[in-house]
Amino acid sequence: MTKERAAIILAAGKSTRMKSATSKVLHPVGGRPMLSWVKALADSAGVSKIVCVVGEANADVRAAAEGLGMEIAVQEPQLGTGHAVLAAKDNLKDFEGIVTVLYADTPLIRAETASRVFDALDDADVAVLGFEAEDPAAYGRLITDGDELQAIVEAKEATPEQLAVTLCNSGVISASRADMYSALDRVTNDNAKGEYYLTDVIEILRGDGRRAVAVIGDEAEVLGVNSRHDLALAEQAFQSAKRAEIMSEGVTLRDPDSVIFAFDTAIENDVEVGANVVFGPGVTVRRNASIHPFSHLEDCEIGEGANIGPFARIRPGTILGPDTRIGNFVETKKARIGQGSKVNHLSYIGDAEIGEDVNVGAGTITCNYDGYNKHTTIIEDGAFVGTHSSLVAPVTIGRGAFLGSGGVITKDVPADALALARADQVNKEDWAKRYHTAQRKRKDKS
Ligand code: UD1
Ligand code: CA
Repeated sequence: MTKERAAIILAAGKSTRMKSATSKVLHPVGGRPMLSWVKALADSAGVSKIVCVVGEANADVRAAAEGLGMEIAVQEPQLGTGHAVLAAKDNLKDFEGIVTVLYADTPLIRAETASRVFDALDDADVAVLGFEAEDPAAYGRLITDGDELQAIVEAKEATPEQLAVTLCNSGVISASRADMYSALDRVTNDNAKGEYYLTDVIEILRGDGRRAVAVIGDEAEVLGVNSRHDLALAEQAFQSAKRAEIMSEGVTLRDPDSVIFAFDTAIENDVEVGANVVFGPGVTVRRNASIHPFSHLEDCEIGEGANIGPFARIRPGTILGPDTRIGNFVETKKARIGQGSKVNHLSYIGDAEIGEDVNVGAGTITCNYDGYNKHTTIIEDGAFVGTHSSLVAPVTIGRGAFLGSGGVITKDVPADALALARADQVNKEDWAKRYHTAQRKRKDKS
């Protein structure tokens, strides 16, 4: 029988080392705030309740946690991790299942690893996620005997013998709500830091005859972020895992280390991605598309067989149909572009609906903004937009219409019409010859 699960996310710590006006746990990894990563982890572990512990100073964290639908517990002042979990006691007083503590500054734990911690409770009373640390430094040490966990000893309290242990505490700990709080009620702050250590619950519960075990994860997964340096390490760890995942799904990355992904980048097989491409959040790329070097994409959908860049900027709300072509120095935003249409060079297409087989000439600009409101440009199937057209929205170019180059199009163009919206050309015979003769004469005199 699986018991009901709850998560307590600790996010009340001060983030002084980030030197940021933004709380640490709201800094992004892979384009998503760390707090959201941990919330997603809790969700994927099937929890029915999440309590986020915040400090009074972290108003931004509280707002973000509420926005994510979490319950809030305030811990003020911050007297340690055990004290933080105690702050959520009231929220869980009617909960009769298993609680897991997660740290909001530890974003990369995988769902599969978290469920191994829950599963360990099938034949133990308390489970801790540990890892073999390359440099154990200040981590708490897991003291084990066979597959039993005897204690977690904080580095500051450890004997030289205990310090030599490399199996460390990630911070994730899971037990029944009843056991967790019965132990926490007995934790004291009689230690080097004068804090209430969550880790003390292991020895207390063992004293009650409970069985504790450690589940082992990867060091890269349990990396905790305390500084900008750690944030960069977490980003690297995320990127290298994501690159490997994307390639394993049948995508060619010409220069994997230079491609930046977001947490939710979705790319179908047989897509090719060139060097130095950046994917912001919300991008889907369909089969056989090519994304050429130095392109930047966010919140968009790239159709099957589409050809993007080099140097294209695909902004939020862009939906490109199959076999579309977006060339160099083209920016699109909130634009739907139909099958086979091309915007090949130096254009801005914003707030636009473009049909199928439309050709948009070089240097075309949709003038979508009047300083107050945004307006829509519609270009119907098969239209031909001449080079250097300015389309002053709202405006509709009818099916199959043809716009002469250099037009400032302010009025709708009927289907199949030619629109010329530029001054007529005047040729003055021999004007240039006369001009040069006069200029040279003046120069010779001076
Ligand atoms: C903690 C563990 C240590 C483990 C390490 C892993 C304890 C006593 N030690 O140490 O065994 O190896 O994490 O990274 O638990 N927090 C609060 N309120 C507080 C204190 C902390 O919400 O009063 C939150 C922080 O925001 C953070 C998390 O708890 O998300 C961990 O706190 P931190 O002070 O970084 O713990 P460590 O000393 O690193
Ligand atoms: Ca820490």
